[in-house]
Amino acid sequence: VQTVHVNLKDRSYDVFVAKGLISQTGELIKSIHLNGKVAIISDSNVVAHHSISLIQSLEKVGIPYSIHVVTAGEASKSLVIADQLCSELAAENHDRSSFIIALGGGVVGDLAGFVASIFYRGIPFVQIPTTIVSLVDSSVGGKTSVNIAEGKNLVGAFHQPKIVIADPEMLKSLKDREYFAGFAEVIKHAAIRDPKMLNDIAKLDPQTRIVPSELIARNIAIKARIVEEDEHETLGVRALLNFGHTIGHGIEASLPYGEILHGEAISFGIRAALFLSEKYFSLPQSDSDKIINLLRKFNLPLQLSPSIKKEMILEKLSRDKKFSSGQIRFVLINKAGSGHVSSSITQENLIQAIEHLRTPI
Ligand SMILES: NC(=O)c1ccc[n+]([C@@H]2O[C@H](COP(=O)([O-])OP(=O)(O)OC[C@H]3O[C@@H](n4cnc5c(N)ncnc54)[C@H](O)[C@@H]3O)[C@@H](O)[C@H]2O)c1
Ligand SMILES: [Zn+2]
Repeated sequence: VQTVHVNLKDRSYDVFVAKGLISQTGELIKSIHLNGKVAIISDSNVVAHHSISLIQSLEKVGIPYSIHVVTAGEASKSLVIADQLCSELAAENHDRSSFIIALGGGVVGDLAGFVASIFYRGIPFVQIPTTIVSLVDSSVGGKTSVNIAEGKNLVGAFHQPKIVIADPEMLKSLKDREYFAGFAEVIKHAAIRDPKMLNDIAKLDPQTRIVPSELIARNIAIKARIVEEDEHETLGVRALLNFGHTIGHGIEASLPYGEILHGEAISFGIRAALFLSEKYFSLPQSDSDKIINLLRKFNLPLQLSPSIKKEMILEKLSRDKKFSSGQIRFVLINKAGSGHVSSSITQENLIQAIEHLRTPI
């Protein structure tokens, strides 16, 4: 079992990564002295594939549970569904001595974590991530949230999990497109912090679902170290994780929900950030090419359709939280594995980068 310790004083916890680990959930939970009843929150796709092994494991150690299933998809990350879940939990007689297990991708993790942060003013929760995005990114760091009409993730709380149980076997049931899109975040981690990981990603066979636990643990460690430095995103360090996310979010928000996956939008965003890094931050072209080739390897889109207008992208992007009082905090890299937050990127530069995305590659 690979272990990553997330060191946040009294909010510290361990992330365990190993194949088949879900079947040891009961023992792992006992080992951290979570004793009450548990409410399992999952979605309609995940529950069909993975709830049985989880439930068997809880039954083996005698942990009582209730199970709450939301409709798969981003639309479930809402205050209405959070409200509904709180009522369901109360109806099942959960109280401050209960805890929650989030079994699913980033949608379930963010939603269930948010419910855990407000139910009885906060109860403990456990993350069991089931997508690449949630394994390497969203299950660690304690950001929980729901969406409102005005934007994604605008309502939420910092609430760290008590333990993260990461089982790469979960990925076997994921659809190809979801699986590939998740690699945008893996490539992002390597690009900002770990040049050697770029070579390891290059060695993976995208047609198999084999992702070594060691590679997942290294990704989690990158996120964990950044979160430890800047838990509440007040120092600008955590902003490093936004590499590829400025223009990427602008593109994602310009399209109707569901048309493009988050990771696909981030692929465009990474190409744009590499272009600006080459032009204004002395990134060698060979480093940039190496990263682009990895995006290509996972079938991620790189050339932006003219139907997605730059005015729209800029408009969406200007509402982004990453604009601190009008200034863009843009993440650039000066070499593979070395990310920096810069405030020197202008609106003009963003337009150049968007135009660059129209060019064939
Ligand atoms: N909290 C954070 O720090 C953070 C970081 C990154 C992303 N996020 C959030 O995460 C969300 C995206 O997460 P995601 O990409 O995991 O999407 P998701 O949770 O919607 O999962 C993608 C799809 O795959 C299905 N699925 C999940 N696991 C499966 C499995 N093992 N087998 C079969 N199907 C499975 C889901 O039902 C869904 O249809 C967004 O809402 C985003 O805002 C949060
Ligand atoms: Zn992302």
